[in-house]
Amino acid sequence: MLVVHNISEICTGPIGATPLNGELPITRKRNAAIGIEVDTIAWIRDDDPASWPPNAELIDAKQGCVIPGLIDCHTHTVFAGTREDEYVQRAQGLSYAEIARRGGGIKNTVDAVRKCSVDQLVELALPRLQRMLALGVTTVEIKSGYGLTVEDELKMLRAVKRLSELQPIELVGTYLAAHTTPREFEGNPDGYLDVVLDAKVLDQIRDEGLAEFADVFCETTAFNIEQSRRFLTTCADAGLTPRIHADQITQIGASRLAAEVGASSADHLERIDDESIAAMRKAGTIAVLLPACSFYLGVEQAPARRIIDAGLPVAIATDFNPGSSVIESLPLTMSIACSQMGMTPAQTLVATTTNAAAVLKRDGKIGAIKEGTQADLTILEVPTIEQMCYFAGRNCTKTVIKKGRAV
Ligand code: NIG
Ligand code: FE
Repeated sequence: MLVVHNISEICTGPIGATPLNGELPITRKRNAAIGIEVDTIAWIRDDDPASWPPNAELIDAKQGCVIPGLIDCHTHTVFAGTREDEYVQRAQGLSYAEIARRGGGIKNTVDAVRKCSVDQLVELALPRLQRMLALGVTTVEIKSGYGLTVEDELKMLRAVKRLSELQPIELVGTYLAAHTTPREFEGNPDGYLDVVLDAKVLDQIRDEGLAEFADVFCETTAFNIEQSRRFLTTCADAGLTPRIHADQITQIGASRLAAEVGASSADHLERIDDESIAAMRKAGTIAVLLPACSFYLGVEQAPARRIIDAGLPVAIATDFNPGSSVIESLPLTMSIACSQMGMTPAQTLVATTTNAAAVLKRDGKIGAIKEGTQADLTILEVPTIEQMCYFAGRNCTKTVIKKGRAV
């Protein structure tokens, strides 16, 4: 048995998608210890050595706060190449959408990814995941979407699968073949979708266990509503749960589509309207906000307060990718949510644990510190979650426990 003791407070949200309005259902337990049996939380008791098994292995939290291992539920961590030229162009006044319209953006990363083998993609992504782990992140979702041929999309997902065997973070694959129409299919997005929605391809994704979710960039520069609906419903029929990049640059009804197809989340939402918020709430579709992306692009943030006040559960993720958010730190993203979106640190904790677990359909297993849940814990060197967010940009993580092992 492993016992984590000398904790300032255990700070955790509940299990299951949770609205962040009203009084937050967050538990702060002081003077408690956590007992871990193999990979599961066996008990949470008073911090009293007399009640621990005599041969227990001890981890001294040194009066740090213990939170659930953080969950980054929206990333593009597998990629090749860099795009600092676009960063400079944006500083000179060009917008993200204009760069995409001129043939840059995502397509530049596609060119780089197509040149890489699975091994090369793995080698590039591994240190990124190691840095995320050191920041207290224990589960990461990773999307394809920079291959845009059947083989290159599968190659990206195989890299994700290989990475999950090489390091402790649990990885969740998402099939984002509908990220944008590749150059070879310019002007023929439907023809492109015919190829990536071929039944044999979706069968292969299932047979190899390469993805659990399907995602589409539903936007004027990418796929329209009809094409997005077709992509997601076809993938859903093959067992992949829908998610959508929605309402980022323009409002074309993408988050309403998310509700319509029963997506687990609609992500971005910088341009969401009240009608869409209501539709998502009714459908049980979670709002994933990506404050590091808006921060990095220098554009307006999603209306977090309006979404929260409407009672729609909110999750937060980094959107880590080489174009619109090179920020791989989920704690920094939480700080950005506090200072740029008006969320409290406690709200950002629920958004990156409880609600992020629900987006990934893992609520009850991860994302909360309760007896019987998986022992994914982040031990901070500061006494509260408030102090972690307050120290924006500093790594306040001391120890990370994944599946009951200090990693
Ligand atoms: O979530 N919006 C579309 N996709 C990514 C950006 C991808 C890229 O620019 O490489 C995002 O922001
Ligand atoms: Fe994204």
